[in-house]
Amino acid sequence: MVRPATPENVRRAARLLRASGVVAFPTETVYGLGAVAFDARAVARIFAIKQRPAFDPLIVHVRDAEMLSAVVAEIPDAAKSLIERFWPGALTLVLSKRTRVPEIVTAGLPTVAVRMPSHPVARMLLDEVGEPLAAPSANPFGRMSPTRAEHVAQALGERVDLILDGGRSTVGLESTILALEPVPVLLRSGAVPVEEIEAVVGPVRRAGPSNDVQAPGQLPVHYAPRTRLRLIDPEGVPMADRSKAAALSLRQTFEGYAATRALSPSGDLQEAAASLFETLHEFDALGLERIDAQPFPEDGLGAAIMDRLRRASAS
Ligand code: TXA
Ligand code: MG
Repeated sequence: MVRPATPENVRRAARLLRASGVVAFPTETVYGLGAVAFDARAVARIFAIKQRPAFDPLIVHVRDAEMLSAVVAEIPDAAKSLIERFWPGALTLVLSKRTRVPEIVTAGLPTVAVRMPSHPVARMLLDEVGEPLAAPSANPFGRMSPTRAEHVAQALGERVDLILDGGRSTVGLESTILALEPVPVLLRSGAVPVEEIEAVVGPVRRAGPSNDVQAPGQLPVHYAPRTRLRLIDPEGVPMADRSKAAALSLRQTFEGYAATRALSPSGDLQEAAASLFETLHEFDALGLERIDAQPFPEDGLGAAIMDRLRRASAS
């Protein structure tokens, strides 16, 4: 059931979580599907609800330094600098885990992915629960992440104990995931551009798309709408092929398409990222044959946007 994220409902969500419940909640990036990270049985329900394969580890959300040290064994200097610069916010760090973190959270890896969200509802919830929350994005495995409570309700509905509605996720793209040992490696491009990370820790290696269990977010097919998506310049698509399709672009709209959306007419990639998944969810609801997405410039946030579109088009 969906409830507005009033203080009373946040307290209710916290009670459910402490009683091994599973609750969807807003973060600034996308909505998460949370359980207390130390509660292996509750975490197992997240996997069942999402139909997520057990090799795909979860991100643990923490409120403060104290909660972080309950989850993570060691914080290298590079991580300290990144935490100082980007937390609370959309950067996830992969660090060595404490034994107390159940294997199911990390898919058996010796590391744990952690992030400190900035969304006031997520922070209030962490406060009330008093324990870190393991939470992947609140969508069925392989599908697009939700940026509104309604997306969660549509896809997961009654299987979740409670969905806290905190409005639209303002960032709209998942966090950037970075491993640090022995050198910084980008495991998933995301809401914090890699250039900004490099300004703090120096060169970051890019992990290529792979089926490696270390980086399941890097699976070639992921983040997909149900409607077939192709990366193509709509400008060159014949008029006759447009009427049963939708066009997506950074700045332009196109004639002849059943739907056409410019994510940011002024070319602002942050604004575009914020409405990317939302627009794809809307297009999906139209039941069209195809989505034609114009390639985005790949600097800054454009890299993460293109990463999501490439994976969506691989399905
Ligand atoms: O913005 C976000 O990151 C959102 C919000 C809810 O925080 N969460 C999210 O989680 O997008 P999701 O569904 O992408 O799942 C976490 C991903 C995994 O697919 C995997 O790629 C990576 O995090 N991951 C988790 N633990 C890891 C580890 N120990 N080593 C490497 N990658 C890990
Ligand atoms: Mg996900």
